[in-house]
Amino acid sequence: MDLRDCLRRCSEKIKSLPKTSRIRIISHYDTDGICSAYILAKAIEREGFDFHITLLEHPVKEEIERLGDEDSDAMILSDLGSSFIDTISKMGRDSIILDHHQPEDRDVIKGSVIQVNSNLFGIDGDIDASGSSLCYLLAKEMNKENIDLSPFALMGAIGDKQSLGGFSGVNREIFDEARREEFIKISRPSLKLGDGPIIQEINLSVDPFYPGLSGREEEIGKLLDRLSIREDARYSEIGGEEKKRLHSFLMLTLLRNNIDPLVANNIIKERILTEKLPLNLDVISEMIDACSKSNDHGLALSFLFNPEDLYERIKRRSEAYKIRIIEKLREIEDRGLKETRNIVYFTCDKASDGSYMSGIVSSYFDCKNKPVFSFSKDRNKIHVSCRARRKMVERGLNLGGLMRSIAQRFGGSGGGHKIAAGATLEETDLDEIVRYIDDIIGKGYEGKV
Ligand code: C5P
Ligand code: ZN
Repeated sequence: MDLRDCLRRCSEKIKSLPKTSRIRIISHYDTDGICSAYILAKAIEREGFDFHITLLEHPVKEEIERLGDEDSDAMILSDLGSSFIDTISKMGRDSIILDHHQPEDRDVIKGSVIQVNSNLFGIDGDIDASGSSLCYLLAKEMNKENIDLSPFALMGAIGDKQSLGGFSGVNREIFDEARREEFIKISRPSLKLGDGPIIQEINLSVDPFYPGLSGREEEIGKLLDRLSIREDARYSEIGGEEKKRLHSFLMLTLLRNNIDPLVANNIIKERILTEKLPLNLDVISEMIDACSKSNDHGLALSFLFNPEDLYERIKRRSEAYKIRIIEKLREIEDRGLKETRNIVYFTCDKASDGSYMSGIVSSYFDCKNKPVFSFSKDRNKIHVSCRARRKMVERGLNLGGLMRSIAQRFGGSGGGHKIAAGATLEETDLDEIVRYIDDIIGKGYEGKV
């Protein structure tokens, strides 16, 4: 079965349900998961069905079982699910999985479950398709009118860093389509700065994290003074020459700190705009992720349904979160990362902070060409988040495979992408976990799949 046939089957399955059906959508709590849920909800609502969305922070088997038991007629899992295909198929309920993480099981049909995992159709889920892209393909299969949801598919891919180096594969097709049909517009190349005074925007800039500047207002003040740019100026107000000076200085700061070269190419670039959202997709994607990871999954999702009314609220929420995260990143900047032979790592209190920060550290800190790990202790478990640069994956590193194998070794669950993965472990001896990971990577670990 090819992807198109598979999507057609999913669409037929949904449309064959009685119109009184209630469809449960279970999705991941990051930007990609939230955009996935939104796209599905809109497509389902437009067909006249009722829906209910649940966002999961750390999907675990018990949670999926509990949700599957609740009263709904069908279940769609987006941006997650492939790791639980056995559990889901045992429930015997009509279910659809739309996932782009590395699958454990290669069956597209398993009992009453249809597994649409990009990797099973020769599409690299690390780079070429996000969870949102797959949900969008299904939405379009259900009704061509759903093409207006294309900007949200692109925003999900941006959230999962799939736009670095330009869109490719399925994402590229969606981008071209959205542009052709005028659902998106492209801006002139610019920095990723919001609409406030530059001094505040750089102070609050977490992605990019400007070493020595982010979270250090006084230093930014001095810099703007040196560059002869007014402190209260907004980025949209300053002239070409001032912009050039600012761009050169910031790029130099990043390069000096050994920024990921792939990320460096995206610091000054064209931005995607859509009439459906107040700012470009890079900025909104970050707001949604920050809001959700600051524990307000509900606001992050509701914002997509009602962007005009909720913009100020999500902005405030994400700013407060970024202030807290920048503070922690500054600590790492001042203290340095912990380092073993094969990895760099840091510890932090909350798993969701570790998830957010590990991506930033991997992109903007000098990681000595090693993957980054964050460890958070939560009562009797340790949550691991890890991120690598694309170059390391090209050399054979597979973090998703590594996380699955440490979950087998220490108990718990783990998985993800080759480039970004996570695990929740029963073991709480951090030294032991670090030793194990260091050792396995040192042996030239190449994960399965
Ligand atoms: O938790 P974190 O954001 O670091 O997870 C990174 C990636 O790994 C996510 O895409 C997540 O879905 C995946 N993951 C997983 N199994 C886990 C934890 C994370 O597949 N137990
Ligand atoms: Zn995703």
